[in-house]
Amino acid sequence: MIAERKDDHVRFAAEQQRRPGGHNQFDEVSFVHHALAGTDRADVSPVTRFGGIEWQVPLYVNAMTGGSERTGAINRDLAIAARETGVAIATGSMSAYFADESVADTFSVMRRENPDGFVMANINANASVDKARRAVDLLRADALQIHLNVIQETVMPEGDRSFAAWGPQIEKIVAGVDVPVIVKEVGFGLSRETVTLLRDMGVRVADVAGRGGTDFARIENDRRKHGDYAYLDGWGQSAPACLLDAQGAGIPVLASGGVRNPLDVVRALALGAAAVGVSGGFLRTVLDGGVSALVRQITDWLDHVRALMTALGARTPAELTRCDVLVHGDLRAFCADRGIDTRRLATRSSSYDTTHETVEGIR
Ligand code: FNR
Repeated sequence: MIAERKDDHVRFAAEQQRRPGGHNQFDEVSFVHHALAGTDRADVSPVTRFGGIEWQVPLYVNAMTGGSERTGAINRDLAIAARETGVAIATGSMSAYFADESVADTFSVMRRENPDGFVMANINANASVDKARRAVDLLRADALQIHLNVIQETVMPEGDRSFAAWGPQIEKIVAGVDVPVIVKEVGFGLSRETVTLLRDMGVRVADVAGRGGTDFARIENDRRKHGDYAYLDGWGQSAPACLLDAQGAGIPVLASGGVRNPLDVVRALALGAAAVGVSGGFLRTVLDGGVSALVRQITDWLDHVRALMTALGARTPAELTRCDVLVHGDLRAFCADRGIDTRRLATRSSSYDTTHETVEGIR
């Protein structure tokens, strides 16, 4: 049953990616162009540091799959691409492994193919501390992701219907494992209030996983025989909205959900993300073109991210938060309602004093 669900998720997510891509809220973020702002490429370093973690590049392959023969093969390919490009990577939810240990290899293949990389295990917020430790041990994981997926569970025919225990359980897991815990959504976003709660629970990092890319309400709806939830289309906040909303929430924030190209990566970094994750887009590449296509795509993206940082005059990912950013459309309305000052974002480079190295940025 779980194996079948994992195969369904891959099939429906890939179908979503193959539909003609359109607008999402990353398009409502643009940079003010300053023609003399550029720096030298040799002075640009993509290294990012957050919550005691250091990655050589601010890009990662976010959680997707494992638990069936087919998804094990996908995990192997994703892991090889991560190893070849140096990006961090996460497995999909390991609940299939807790239900049946014979599928362990469909997850542990990620560590076997990528022995020295940064690998994240992934569990749900109901998992016991013992399961959390088993997940970390199986992968020799460098961090543990816990996913929050209320809307997905709600639409999933066989999904959970009890969510009240999630918060207390996250606190127990944080206290019970010895790797950093990253809490993520699965495509509906994390609000400022949620990120603040996570901080208070001792969670090290939040991954907003916003709306605008893979849509799990639609995927689960496509798996339903009756009781259509199609009206939930559009639920949740986009990654740019979440990043703006979570400014100053007190823990580092990662961005994912709807990231389509290197400009989206740079936009997310400029809005305060410490690194940027991609799932559906990389899945499509690996399914359609194999490992070599994904290695090429990630390599090209990293090259372009560095090129854009050079043009924008940002020597580090953190320095992108000094760039002047314009917010348009619905995202601007969201900012107004949530009390987020978009004028300050549009003029913040002038409040950066190069003599005293003070930043009025949003980090
Ligand atoms: C996911 N995602 C996901 N997340 C998670 O925490 N545990 C999981 O098991 C899965 N499973 C999964 C399967 C497939 C096929 C996809 C495409 C995605 C969600 C993923 O990590 C991410 O949050 C969302 O997909 C949004 O990012 P993209 O796809 O818009 O880049």
